[in-house]
Amino acid sequence: MKLSILLDGLLLVFSLLGVANVCAADAESIARGKYLYDAADCYSCHGGPRGGQNGGASSGKLKLPSGGLGLDTPFGTFRSPNITPDKQYGIGNWTEGEFKTALRNGIGRNGEYLFPVFTYTSFTKLTDSDIEDLYAYIMSLPAVSLPNKPHEAKPPFSWRPLLVFWRSLFFKEGPMNTEPDRGKDWNRGNYLAHAVAHCEECHTPRNFLGGLDLGRSFSGNIGGPDKQNAPNITSDVKTGIGSWSIADIEQLLKTGMTPDSDLLGSGMKAVVQGTSKLTDADRHAMAVYLKSIPPIHVDLPPPNPATQDR
Ligand code: HEC
Ligand code: HEC
Repeated sequence: MKLSILLDGLLLVFSLLGVANVCAADAESIARGKYLYDAADCYSCHGGPRGGQNGGASSGKLKLPSGGLGLDTPFGTFRSPNITPDKQYGIGNWTEGEFKTALRNGIGRNGEYLFPVFTYTSFTKLTDSDIEDLYAYIMSLPAVSLPNKPHEAKPPFSWRPLLVFWRSLFFKEGPMNTEPDRGKDWNRGNYLAHAVAHCEECHTPRNFLGGLDLGRSFSGNIGGPDKQNAPNITSDVKTGIGSWSIADIEQLLKTGMTPDSDLLGSGMKAVVQGTSKLTDADRHAMAVYLKSIPPIHVDLPPPNPATQDR
């Protein structure tokens, strides 16, 4: 009798924590998924202006990706959806395969093309097992029962079928290859920067259709999506970060502090919240990779500190 009350109590606690029936293998997968979720900054877009810190719905200290945040682009304002495991309004009914198709192929549960303001153009490069871990973590979160808000995109950019053209021009499906000659750190950094932390989505200029101009990767994008003024982070000494050491980059990714002791703001603040939770080894790997990016000289106007924080 007493035991069953105790068990009931434990089950209640577990289900309140959203971790019912978790076995050891699942727990490891969930922990790896949380690491990736932080590094990929899923929350910075999927949090929302619905109460709680940084806007999102929350359960205790945990801020939940219940959606609703407006993301400004030249094509209109897009609203992030609820990706908590709520069965009605979130992705609680999605199978792992459907989740994978969204991240790998940019295709939603009903076969619709997803708007590339969801950075699946980067997440497509994730490995299968990393996507599975992300799924395990998201499904372990408490569900939030909040409906999605409609996008306010301008026609014709609001018309999903047209994305077939955009995709044929600008979307290359992953996962990405390793380059054996480049060593372990470089490859890990390359993977983290491109597939997970999607640094390019802000730091690479875009053409008039919103496609990344990959010939000028990492050379900065002023007035990019969500009004981000992202500077040149290639190794150009004058207009990029060529004079920064590997330790300088590691420090930035850990603390948000530049070698000139400026604290970075704007969208980079949310990025650093993610990279500050990485292991030192992973930050080192990213710095090694960033230092290897060939210099591109660009005279961009200085970033405007007035851009909003996420
Ligand atoms: C830059 C902002 C941004 C980031 C970062 C981001 N998302 Fe999204 N995501 C969106 C937007 C906007 C949509 C809606 C796209 C659409 O309607 O076509 C979306 C859609 C989705 C969907 C489809 C949901 C549905 O109801 O159709 C899933 C699943 C998803 N995101 C998961 C993630 C995960 C997991 C991460 C982190 C690895 C992540 N997102 C990071 C903005 C973002
Ligand atoms: C959401 C958009 C966004 C993403 C994603 C992003 N950045 Fe940034 N980044 C910015 C903005 C905006 C600034 C300028 C911030 C400021 O001036 O306060 C910046 C600044 C920087 C700087 C400082 C450059 C300088 O000259 O002071 C570095 C280095 C940097 N980012 C590296 C990265 C790396 C590495 C990643 C991937 C882990 C990344 N960024 C991802 C938007 C972004």
